[in-house]
Amino acid sequence: MGEEGAWYFGKVDSIAEEGRDLLENYSGVPAAQVIEHVVNIRDKAYKVFPWPCIGRVSFLNNKLAKMSYASKILPKLNKGATFLDAGCCFGQQLRYLNYYDHISPSRLYAFDYEPEFIGLGYDLFRDKPKFQGHMVGGDMLAPLSSPQNADLEALSIQGAIDVISVASVLHGWDYDDQLKAAINLVAFSRPEPGSLITGDLLGSLKAGSYPLPSELGSHYRHNIESFKAFWKEVGERTETRWDVEATFVGSQAIKDNEKSKYVDQDTRMIQFCCEKLE
Ligand SMILES: C[S@@+](CC[C@H](N)C(=O)[O-])C[C@H]1O[C@@H](n2cnc3c(N)ncnc32)[C@H](O)[C@@H]1O
Repeated sequence: MGEEGAWYFGKVDSIAEEGRDLLENYSGVPAAQVIEHVVNIRDKAYKVFPWPCIGRVSFLNNKLAKMSYASKILPKLNKGATFLDAGCCFGQQLRYLNYYDHISPSRLYAFDYEPEFIGLGYDLFRDKPKFQGHMVGGDMLAPLSSPQNADLEALSIQGAIDVISVASVLHGWDYDDQLKAAINLVAFSRPEPGSLITGDLLGSLKAGSYPLPSELGSHYRHNIESFKAFWKEVGERTETRWDVEATFVGSQAIKDNEKSKYVDQDTRMIQFCCEKLE
């Protein structure tokens, strides 16, 4: 969304506290060099694709721990659940789960459309080959059997994941692609009731298709009702049933961009947690 609003911080004075902690005490980046190190990696990644979460350095938030539904998710992971971060960017969530929650990397999986982000993640966290979480390139919109998902398929995690996170990803697409992505994600979820799919996405009080910058087309913004209906449709298409909790939450990114033509007074973030019933 480039210069249209505050989607890229030209000057970075501070980063999320947990990001600084991780970078100093896990990655071993000297305190005085943390900002320069982050900005250097951020700028390389922004050239790969200018996602606002990269431009705004919000990738250093430990999102899962701050989710409205964290108390539903983290105890499951502490009891041995498997975790998949779909659209993982640098793989920061896997590092946080390992560092703060002591989740074994053997149970942590992630994929991203841009494998370069995963490579830059190792540079950011200075943990190759120390970090043993499973991270590969993969396309959520394509069937698992398609050539671009060969690495993802090789992980053999179909029907094996207890908690799937899809954070700030679904809002990149219009309704039909969101549906395709969600159906593909359901295939990773363990068949038993209790499997979770959680995350956040940009939404609106008024559900519908909204324009994105011209090269990106349009995207669908849900409200709570349309999001619940969406998961009913996902359930029908996958022969599963989901209990959907979803809520509008405050967002600094929306506040900072209230003058952007892509934000209006109805724009909101939605956090959600869907639990498989059958
Ligand atoms: C806005 S970033 C969000 C990153 C991270 N989940 C977070 O919450 O900070 C969106 C991420 O989704 C990835 N992505 C976009 N399309 C994808 C697709 N078709 N399959 C997998 N990942 C995708 C992007 O490469 C990017 O890393």
